[in-house]
Amino acid sequence: MPVLEQIAVEIAAAPGRGTPADYIPALATTDPRQFGMAVAELDGTVYGVGDWETPFSAQSITKVFTLALCLSMEGEGLWEHVGREPSGNPFNSLVQLEYENGIPRNPFINAGALVVTDRLHSLTGDASGTLRDFLRVESGNPDLDFDEQVWASETANGDRNAALAHFMASYHNIANPVPVLLDEYFHQCAIEASCADLARAAGFLARHGIGAEGDILLTRSQAKQINAVMLTCGTYDAAGDFAYRVGLPGKSGVGGGIIAVVPGHCTLCVWGPGLDERGNSVSGVAALDRFTTLTGLSVF
Ligand code: DON
Repeated sequence: MPVLEQIAVEIAAAPGRGTPADYIPALATTDPRQFGMAVAELDGTVYGVGDWETPFSAQSITKVFTLALCLSMEGEGLWEHVGREPSGNPFNSLVQLEYENGIPRNPFINAGALVVTDRLHSLTGDASGTLRDFLRVESGNPDLDFDEQVWASETANGDRNAALAHFMASYHNIANPVPVLLDEYFHQCAIEASCADLARAAGFLARHGIGAEGDILLTRSQAKQINAVMLTCGTYDAAGDFAYRVGLPGKSGVGGGIIAVVPGHCTLCVWGPGLDERGNSVSGVAALDRFTTLTGLSVF
């Protein structure tokens, strides 16, 4: 795909790559010069450039998949426990939770993702295993797995997530014991996958809910709902700027990955480990901005 080659050349020439996340020490040493981008067509055919087949830490990108699993199993009842409004606050913020009685603003900030993982764990008895198996099928990569080093690193530095979980438990918005939930959540965040894996795995959001094997994972309406929450909340307090620049539903992670969806057309995943101050990949946002500008593919 010539457009991907052009973007890779532009990214390589761009000054400033941001800084890898250092609050999870295992991520801090990732080389910020790496860059990969993959585009998956609706039939799963993937094109890529740069480090598109290099596994990286998926982190918050996984929140899209746990939301999809939970929504498909629980339906609308989920929204009694987590909202679907942009937070306007950093992804790991505690402040809104007290004003809003332990109900997080949306499923993509850490507090909201903890609620979704807690509910998925109650529904399945194995939230992280369910997620891993789902991603293996949807990506077509049977070797996709957790990075135990990242899991251990986050477990050893998880005080803020523990605070969020305990605080919500005090409002009875968490059903499982907090240490059990944190272990599930940290495993979820430690999923290691490449741009090719994640672009393919997100395909059901471009296929209006149809999975890689032709099964109905979500109704068309639910796929639309998840895309809408990605657009408004997927890049946290930068969601407005991301929508302005990229014009697609997207979800970032502090590993430096971002997935994006062109409904009815294709899915994308970009990876550049250097982050901006809001926790989004600098080269990833720039590459998606260029992709939609060059191709005209956008929801607007
Ligand atoms: O819980 C955390 O802080 C990380 N495991 C995930 C945060 C994240 O990826 C937010 N991304 N921009």
